[in-house]
Amino acid sequence: MISERAQSISPSLTLSITSTAKRLKREGRDVVNFGAGEPDFPTPENIKMAAVKAINENITYYTPTAGIEELRQAIAEKLRRYNGVSYDPSEIVVSCGGKHSLYNIMQVLLNPGDDGLLITPYWVSYLEQIKLAGAQPRLVQTDEENRIDIEELRRLITEKTRLLVLNSPSNPAGAVLSHSELKSIADLALEHGLWIVSDEVYEAFVYNGSKHISIASLSEEVKARTVISNAFSKTYSMTGWRIGYTASPREVAEAIARLQDHMTSNPTSIAQMAALEALKGPQTSVKNMVEAFDKRRRLMVSRLNEMKNVDCHMPRGAFYAFPSIQSTGLSSMQFSDRLLREALTAVVPGIAFGRDGNIRLSYAASTEEIERGMDRMERFCRSLG
Ligand SMILES: Cc1ncc(COP(=O)(O)O)c(C=O)c1O
Repeated sequence: MISERAQSISPSLTLSITSTAKRLKREGRDVVNFGAGEPDFPTPENIKMAAVKAINENITYYTPTAGIEELRQAIAEKLRRYNGVSYDPSEIVVSCGGKHSLYNIMQVLLNPGDDGLLITPYWVSYLEQIKLAGAQPRLVQTDEENRIDIEELRRLITEKTRLLVLNSPSNPAGAVLSHSELKSIADLALEHGLWIVSDEVYEAFVYNGSKHISIASLSEEVKARTVISNAFSKTYSMTGWRIGYTASPREVAEAIARLQDHMTSNPTSIAQMAALEALKGPQTSVKNMVEAFDKRRRLMVSRLNEMKNVDCHMPRGAFYAFPSIQSTGLSSMQFSDRLLREALTAVVPGIAFGRDGNIRLSYAASTEEIERGMDRMERFCRSLG
């Protein structure tokens, strides 16, 4: 028999839509895929070459569980320079992607019976990872413009509440938390002795003057209660390489490394060398990608807002549009399913993120693909009457 733990996990809807879309494509159907949560750019050449070099130089053995010392140093240096927060390399643990880092965090910070706070709409895996730690997710809703009501958040806190997950810029809403919002959240967390889990995987993707601020940079006190999770996946278009990391107080880092010792040991040595080059090499590819996404963002959102019964806020970060389709009268699952079957266009239903009135579309696609998909969706929305 399968364990209760494994049975309690819901399959990832985002991954399942993406794989259906990929399957249809393989079968020769002309699918436009807005479901993917990954940049459509190739991994930059210098990063790929660093991996080739690592293979040729036989960097193919186990590394320390928490990652190669040089990489941990480079991550600490990046956090200091780019995020204004200083960590010792011993406080960094490199894992097999951001998802793995977050899984480790939940396992290390939560006890069975604890509560973890999530802001809706939330990224799917937080919810399952909290449950996998035997804890209970508690959801706080945001308003139309994805603003958090601090008093609402306060009302959810009980003696069981252990942590709060932040994701700024956010997937799926593209919300970017301001300094004052972060400050109110941090004050609340300190007042109640909560851990702040800050998932900063979309930090590079901010537009139109928005700024990413790491909550750990607010003060030493806040930093002492924060665990940062980040990854190379999105920033450097390295989703398949599987390198993520945490930055945290040493006690937490040591616990994460102990857990990882018995789970995966080190992440792939070759991918770690590629990640080192990503941090040390030129950053122009990141800048070019963000500029391209900014143009696509504006194109997609303006096309969405021209459609019947669709209403889309301009996302300020990440690479997703999250329009409301509530006025169509369809649930997000019905809408996404029909859009894929009737218009061969893949999107993710908002229910996967706790918001049934919305759908998520990734604009990490070429402008031609965006135009094609938007034409299809426009026709589909008109056909709904
Ligand atoms: C909000 C968020 N956090 C973390 C991740 C995990 O990224 P990785 O591919 O590094 O595991 C993703 C990927 O989709 C994400 O959207």
